[in-house]
Amino acid sequence: MRIVLLGSPGSGKGTQAIRIKKKFGIPHISTGDIFRDNIERNTTIGMEAKSYISKGLLVPDSVTIQIVENRLAEDDCKDGFLLDGFPRNLPQAEVLDKGLEKTGKKLDAVVNLDVTDEIIIKRMANRRICSSCGESYNLLFSKPAADGICDKCGGKLYIREDDKPETVVNRLSVYRNQTFPLVEYYNKKGILITVNGEDSADKTFLDILSSLERLP
Ligand code: AP5
Repeated sequence: MRIVLLGSPGSGKGTQAIRIKKKFGIPHISTGDIFRDNIERNTTIGMEAKSYISKGLLVPDSVTIQIVENRLAEDDCKDGFLLDGFPRNLPQAEVLDKGLEKTGKKLDAVVNLDVTDEIIIKRMANRRICSSCGESYNLLFSKPAADGICDKCGGKLYIREDDKPETVVNRLSVYRNQTFPLVEYYNKKGILITVNGEDSADKTFLDILSSLERLP
């Protein structure tokens, strides 16, 4: 399966990606995770990406597209992949289509998680990440047992820099202007699945699975 996860910031792409990856045994490629890893390691890409991410802006296509092309060329992506956070604008979507066409492949499905801005803002304000193993928590929906401590590894939990309320507002606006047009782009291609992302994570996952089964 070749799947793209689409949806506004905080709509649950990462949460669903874990489940989809496990179900289909395909590699999960998150451009956000790749950038955060580069930022942590202080690479040239990380330093450039940080200046955009901290403002809630998209990292330039010249950087992002190259990263994804390199990753998709790796052996484990030969028979399928799950893209999370890419493409995020029309030029990225077109490059992805052309790259796949060259090798006689195409996307099977684009899963669009539909969540209102009001809920997004609540989710982002309550997201906490483990500084050690990367596990994601939510103080409203999936609290750690002990305040500020990861259940899995005992690491310290932190708030993502781009989850600050003023940055979230920018990310939502970038999503509306640059990413939302992809919903229509993929709808026209007949591969768009829109799922209510406001249900519980498990219910949303079941909806994704049954929609994937209905695809021609
Ligand atoms: P990225 O990391 O991709 O961020 P995002 O798209 O803004 O998405 P998030 O990771 O914030 O949220 P999510 O949808 O994965 O939701 P999650 O499952 O965590 O990108 C970060 C930045 O990198 C971008 O802003 C941009 O600058 C740059 N970038 C990345 N890709 C790029 C590209 N292609 N081009 C250019 N720049 C790029 O859930 C959120 C919270 O809600 C969690 O606390 C979770 O526990 C909770 N939650 C999830 N589902 C549910 C549910 N069903 N019910 C209750 N709570 C839930």
